[in-house]
Amino acid sequence: MVQVNNICCIGAGYVGGPTCTVIAQMCPQITVTVVDINEERIRAWNSNQLPIYEPDLQEVVESCRGRNLFFSTNVKEAIKNADIIFISVNTPTKTFGMGKGRAADLKYVEACARQIADIADGYKIVVEKSTVPVRAAEIIRRIFQTSTKPNLSFQVLSNPEFLAEGTAIENLKNPDRILIGGDETPAGQEAIEALCEIYKHWVPKNKIITTNTWSSELSKLAANAFLAQRISSINSISALCEVTGADVGEVAHAIGTDNRIGRPFLQASIGFGGSCFQKDILNLIYICETLSLHEVALYWQQVLDINEYQRRRFASRIVSCLFNTVADKKIAVLGFAFKKDTGDTRESSSIHVCKYLMDEGAHLAIYDPKVKKEQIIRDLTHPTISEDNPGRVSKLVTIVSEPYAACENTHALVICTEWDIFKHLDYERLYEKMLKPAFIFDGRRVLDVLHKKLQQIGFQVETIGKRVHPALSSHVLSCHKKQDQTPAKKIKT
Ligand code: UDX
Ligand code: UDX
Repeated sequence: MVQVNNICCIGAGYVGGPTCTVIAQMCPQITVTVVDINEERIRAWNSNQLPIYEPDLQEVVESCRGRNLFFSTNVKEAIKNADIIFISVNTPTKTFGMGKGRAADLKYVEACARQIADIADGYKIVVEKSTVPVRAAEIIRRIFQTSTKPNLSFQVLSNPEFLAEGTAIENLKNPDRILIGGDETPAGQEAIEALCEIYKHWVPKNKIITTNTWSSELSKLAANAFLAQRISSINSISALCEVTGADVGEVAHAIGTDNRIGRPFLQASIGFGGSCFQKDILNLIYICETLSLHEVALYWQQVLDINEYQRRRFASRIVSCLFNTVADKKIAVLGFAFKKDTGDTRESSSIHVCKYLMDEGAHLAIYDPKVKKEQIIRDLTHPTISEDNPGRVSKLVTIVSEPYAACENTHALVICTEWDIFKHLDYERLYEKMLKPAFIFDGRRVLDVLHKKLQQIGFQVETIGKRVHPALSSHVLSCHKKQDQTPAKKIKT
């Protein structure tokens, strides 16, 4: 049996940081060192201002940092000392060359493999934590195989991470399953067993699934594709609800009680965001295309197309309800993160809704409890969002530090992220501050139980997947008719 005393994790991001923190807490006898080339990030991990916001993360880090959990930029030393090396670096969508906009860029994974082969001696278990295309482990193996070091031996495992941001610590401590893929040889099985032993410190044995390497790699892509598909499915139904008088919340509840369908992940929204769903589906599509599985590629493309349609549809509804123009109107945007309980904005649907509203000349006052001002500006001035006019952001966008300031003299309040605090705002006070008629567009259905009260205050409420204002039905219908005439735009990648 391989004895594991030291773990090194390359990549101190949303995946590497929380994952290794929980391993360190659960396995006090193992030294866990998380390394990153980004000095600022490592400095933040060693401070009281962690580089990412995640509920309970600070407490867990403080319980083991300096004891058996270390954050460092000394990648070489950490690799040398490690028995197991996790690769948790980013695998972004390629922005150039072959597979541009779809394939995963594996240059960081390859660079890690080369660095490990360069530095390591003796026996190492190298674990892919990053989400990678199926057969990526082959690249790492090939690089190790070409090493001429006589005493270097290795096993490559796939151990994808299924944590969701905002609930990362809970997901890591009580995972639905741990998936470990490896070589079917005795040496491969021994490496799998060594990694299983680590998880067995806190995960019941029956939740640890072992497979061959390729099944494990593909399962991560497939899991994310299936989850995203559910959201696109319910969002497609939400469009139908808005024109028929059905309520997507009631539909989701009714279908979710069927065991075969299940309740989770049927929350209609302005579309999914986050660093994984879009990237992984694009990657899946690319793999299918390169393997000539065109129908399969087209099938998954539709999940992304509906997501983009939903974002655009929501923005069009805002414009349409505000008497077909938002030019020079002020709109409060509440929530910029891609979901609640995180400060992460990667692929956030809020960015796209803001883009569409800026395209129409709206002035935006944006509030998010956890996203930094610089991040919002960075996202909105990105070339894919502000195209050839990044200057428009300074003219059109104000970032505010509390929700009431955002609503001063606005025509509409738009909820883009489902932060709990938005359910408990003083809506009478907000109404006073706003221009009339005052509109609320709830892109997350966080105000469902308040609709009556909001209408009594005087708001006109518009929400995803439901017709709240009966008088508006013909208006909504006409807005949908107009959209029907516009062919679905392909997403920009
Ligand atoms: C990301 C993706 O979201 C996920 O799908 C994939 O499985 C892993 O990469 P995440 O942890 O969220 O996960 O990425 P990110 O927060 O960008 O962290 C990656 C870290 O790796 C960065 O801090 C970066 O500086 C570091 N890195 C990257 C290295 O230390 N060395 C490198 O060579 C490249
Ligand atoms: C996802 C997967 O859940 C996780 O297993 C994987 O490891 C990484 O990708 P994450 O992107 O962090 O995690 O969050 P998730 O909770 O999956 O939400 C993704 C997006 O879908 C968010 O924008 C969220 O608001 C949206 N969503 C989720 C909906 O619109 N409706 C839902 O019912 C659920």
